[in-house]
Amino acid sequence: MPQLSRLFFKTAIVFLIVGIAMGLQMAISGNHNVIAAHTHANLLGWVTMALFGTYYAFNPAKAETRFAHLQYLIYTAGIAVLAPSLYVLYLGYDAAEPVAAVSSLVVFVGVLMFAAVVYGKEPKSTVLPKRTLA
Ligand code: HEM
Ligand code: HEM
Repeated sequence: MPQLSRLFFKTAIVFLIVGIAMGLQMAISGNHNVIAAHTHANLLGWVTMALFGTYYAFNPAKAETRFAHLQYLIYTAGIAVLAPSLYVLYLGYDAAEPVAAVSSLVVFVGVLMFAAVVYGKEPKSTVLPKRTLA
């Protein structure tokens, strides 16, 4: 598996743990206030990141480019700010709204970059093919 796919999965699982923790908090308290933070930590964090990681695992040459690594950094930075800012916003602190707005745009940029990766040409792989026994 390319290093970038491993990075995506290692990050995605952190968001699943955080997302589930928010879900448990809502279920146990009976107060479903932070639903949007829970939803987006799970769906943008865990599910979408795992899909990115899976795509790169099937397209290892694309996972080697600097652009793909930049896509990881921008997307991850966006969701790492968006998830806590949504949590705070849905707890009732309206001051977090501009932070959530800007970070959701950063997430969107990460998604557009991923679209560019998907539609882009397959670069020449620098990974040598595995030797097979004759
Ligand atoms: C043990 C794990 C989980 C717990 C305890 C939990 C708990 C909850 C609770 C209490 C709600 C609010 C329900 C409502 O008021 O309508 C909710 C909503 C939601 N959860 Fe979870 N959740 C868990 C895992 C997940 C995971 C892994 C995902 C996605 C991959 C997910 C996606 C959603 C979505 C999309 C909603 C919003 C549904 C709607 O709009 O009605 N949840 N969850
Ligand atoms: C930056 C990207 C995104 C933005 C800005 C965004 C924004 C929103 C907003 C404003 C709501 C309504 C929340 C409320 O009722 O208080 C919402 C709900 C929802 N979104 Fe997103 N969304 C994004 C990406 C996604 C993605 C990629 C998915 C699924 C893979 C998703 C799944 C949902 C679901 C299931 C709900 C309904 C449950 C809830 O209220 O949290 N969203 N989203």
